[in-house]
Amino acid sequence: MGKRILVTGGAGYIGSHTVLQLLLADFSVAVVDNLDNSSEAALERVAKLAGDAGRNLSFHKIDLRDRDALKKIFDSTKFDAVIHFAGLKAVGESVEKPLLYYNNNIIGTIILLETMANYGCKKLVFSSSATVYGWPKEVPCTEVFPLCATNPYGRTKLMIEEICRDIHCGDSEWDIILLRYFNPVGAHPSGFIGEDPRGIPNNLMPFVQQVAVGRRPALTVYGNDYSTKDGTGVRDYIHVVDLADGHIAAVEKLFQGGSKTGCQVYNLGTGKGTSVLEMVAAFEKASGKKIPLVMAGRRPGDCETVYASTSKAEKELNWKAKYGIEEMCRDQWNWASKNPWGYGKPDESTNPST
Ligand code: NAD
Ligand code: WQD
Repeated sequence: MGKRILVTGGAGYIGSHTVLQLLLADFSVAVVDNLDNSSEAALERVAKLAGDAGRNLSFHKIDLRDRDALKKIFDSTKFDAVIHFAGLKAVGESVEKPLLYYNNNIIGTIILLETMANYGCKKLVFSSSATVYGWPKEVPCTEVFPLCATNPYGRTKLMIEEICRDIHCGDSEWDIILLRYFNPVGAHPSGFIGEDPRGIPNNLMPFVQQVAVGRRPALTVYGNDYSTKDGTGVRDYIHVVDLADGHIAAVEKLFQGGSKTGCQVYNLGTGKGTSVLEMVAAFEKASGKKIPLVMAGRRPGDCETVYASTSKAEKELNWKAKYGIEEMCRDQWNWASKNPWGYGKPDESTNPST
């Protein structure tokens, strides 16, 4: 039996892909998720995709803020490390409902960290975000850039990063890796798991995907007057399977014998910038579908160009993204065409065992 990992938010988009890679790498995984923005079906499919290793997966439908329920899980299993994905992530909603975000993301994290400390589990990988770079003065963004937040969601990421730095400062037994994700897109190449956001998607690719399957009439392009190659915003899109593999690399670093990790931060991106129009063109090519566009003004809070410097992760995690935007769009379309309603309407053809 491999090492035991607790994964919070493991039923979600990035979490489900990471749980699969963990199982395939021989880890034993317990998922804690309240299913606020996800479906248990994702984990059922992960278990099937993992084959025999699927038996090393358990699921606990609890809210991280339920201290007693969390304690029971730590009572029953001695975890070697925790990967903490659980959190709310919609920027616009966080502006309207800041207390919801501070309560869920901050209190949930504090209860998790307190429980880990009480049980002597002091190895953590945390999902941070490129949002902590704000509108960067230059690109590529390196991990030493000044940090800022422009909305409550981003502030929760910044605050949790600071909490992690503080707890490591107070107790050097903690080993913590903060991963700053750029823009995760795509799906597992099998087409059995992928992103299935509740309500109207906030992010570009889930919206494009819903236009392609006929759920929405057109994509609104937010701003075509930026100083970029075609006037639209430029981002660093990263295949979700590459991102998941970045977590395996991070966990392995936590378990490396000898030196302590301390509290380290790594960007997970590709180092390449792609505009909105380039991404839409790549998706149209991969899917054979035309995506009608409506040009609109800039979205408040958006920045012009963001992409990662990836050299620290390459050097210290021995990890580098393998996939380009063609593969991202191919796999996004494979998932979307097989599951036009996400996990919502189960369909025989989406069962990996058939
Ligand atoms: P997601 O919404 O698909 O997954 C998050 C999961 O956490 C969901 O399954 C949700 O039900 C669960 N959850 C939320 N609050 C919880 C709570 N209090 N208790 C238990 N479970 C709870 O989101 P994702 O895209 O997979 O993102 C995972 C993490 O990565 C989040 O922390 C997010 O902020 C961060 N992140 C995401 C992106 C992105 O673009 N997707 C970029 C950077 C960082
Ligand atoms: C990408 C580009 C939009 C939707 C957000 C969060 C960030 C992180 C990742 C969690 C931009 C344009 C989008 C649409 C569009 N999440 N766009 N029409 O804004 O880079 O980052 O997700 O941490 O915190 O802010 O990603 O996918 O929303 O936008 O034109 O309907 O697509 O303006 O240029 P973003 P995104």
